[in-house]
Amino acid sequence: MFEKVEDYPVDPIMIGADYFAQDPRTDKLNLTVGIYQDEHGQTPVLQAVKEAERRLVETQTTKSYLALTGDAEYCTVLGQEVLGGTFGSDWVAAQTSGGAVALRVMADLLAQMPEPPTVWLQTPTYGNYIPILTAAGTRFMQVPYYDPIGRKITFDQMLDGLANARSGDVFLMQGVCHNPTGADMTPEQFAALLEVLEERGIIPWIDLAYLGFDQGFEADGSAARQIAERFRECIVCITLSKSFGIYRDRAGALFVKTRKDDRSRVHRAVSAIVRSGASHAPDHGPSVVRTILQDQELKALWLLELDRMRARVAQVRAQIAQTEMDDFGTGNLAYLAGQRGMFSLLPLTESQETALTRDHGIHVVKGGRVNVARLGSEDIGWLIRAVQAVTQT
Ligand SMILES: Cc1ncc(COP(=O)(O)O)c(C=O)c1O
Repeated sequence: MFEKVEDYPVDPIMIGADYFAQDPRTDKLNLTVGIYQDEHGQTPVLQAVKEAERRLVETQTTKSYLALTGDAEYCTVLGQEVLGGTFGSDWVAAQTSGGAVALRVMADLLAQMPEPPTVWLQTPTYGNYIPILTAAGTRFMQVPYYDPIGRKITFDQMLDGLANARSGDVFLMQGVCHNPTGADMTPEQFAALLEVLEERGIIPWIDLAYLGFDQGFEADGSAARQIAERFRECIVCITLSKSFGIYRDRAGALFVKTRKDDRSRVHRAVSAIVRSGASHAPDHGPSVVRTILQDQELKALWLLELDRMRARVAQVRAQIAQTEMDDFGTGNLAYLAGQRGMFSLLPLTESQETALTRDHGIHVVKGGRVNVARLGSEDIGWLIRAVQAVTQT
């Protein structure tokens, strides 16, 4: 029977890790990893997380199932923290196994509607959206978002593409520190986008994966709050993997703002989809998050640790731009200082990208994504010289 199993495509990020492991050179640099790393390639457990875990071990009295949509207290604490005053009884909320399951539950729900809407995606965008939507059977279309060689957001083309969306369709965007481009819309572009979505009856779906890596955890929820303030129906997915450094502990959430009459039906739909898929919410990661958010001292410690990660990435970005100017003066990588978060795309053609790995031992995700956080001071010169060399041949 299993001879009939088709050959599934492997995620480009996972392939990147394999290629790096297979590279026999010792002077090689892995910029493919999709998580926060320090300059030594380490992703340490935050102290606030360790302390929250200690407290949970001491106080937890049961490991029985949670509700299908998880712990209501976790959802409320997180909803208030991210959505502020816009969060209330008009939301259906579910605690999910990381951000990916929040996205998948929503994708299933959309696909199972009697007249399924089309989900409009930015190109490029997070590499797992298409596999998630495809697995759910959700219809999707793509609009251009960013030009890696031109190093800029293709805002007008994005709006032109959205002209083909119908009322009731859904636009999936990221809130902050866009993965993989590092390029977020300006406040003016974002306001203009919301205008178009509202005018055309398109429902916003915002995915928040890097809260705290741009301005700070609270400030970085601003795009979601603007959407929630303006739209009667909208969708918010959150992962806390990055903000708390708890990738394997799977803390995430799905928030759906609905009209009053639809609320209990949407809640039952979400519950049924969870039941037939992830079947129950995970506890450990979300409990760590709840414990930290509900304790002023732990929260202050976590915010400090998050801010250190944010500041380090910003500093690496600034250092790349400055060193490139000092050493070569082309300004070729100056755009990196204006982008945000862990990822950016190098402005390389496919053959230049191949040469970067082949001739200089620098591994990037196919399409040119680099994990900026991984770069130590010495690596920065290495990357700049390599980019300079491959773009001159
Ligand atoms: C934009 C975006 N959304 C969602 C996720 C999923 O996160 P999780 O690991 O919590 O499923 C990621 C992870 O890289 C991401 O970059």
